[in-house]
Amino acid sequence: MVKVTYVDAEGAETRIEAEEGDTVMSAAIANDIDGIVGECGGSMMCATCHCYVDEAWAEKTGPRMDGEDDMLDCAASEVTERSRLSCQVRLTADLDGLVVHLPAEQI
Ligand code: FES
Repeated sequence: MVKVTYVDAEGAETRIEAEEGDTVMSAAIANDIDGIVGECGGSMMCATCHCYVDEAWAEKTGPRMDGEDDMLDCAASEVTERSRLSCQVRLTADLDGLVVHLPAEQI
């Protein structure tokens, strides 16, 4: 299992456990995390799964995938260097303890 903590725009934290191979988006949906919509189901067509990877985890989650930059241009909240589409961040044992921050708006 991989532990993930989602921190909402007000600073409230929710910690869940996901399976390796899940994405940060699919784990959020499965655990009813408000703040991740995931409208397109993970096919990189919506940007409603926008999240900010915690600074401490930026290196481990790696760079954005091809196409993420273009889709992030459609994000409803500010895009920063730590912005990712959470459907493109796949959970591995290396990411156990991952912390992601959620934007104030997704739509
Ligand atoms: S769920 Fe649509 S881009 Fe991630």
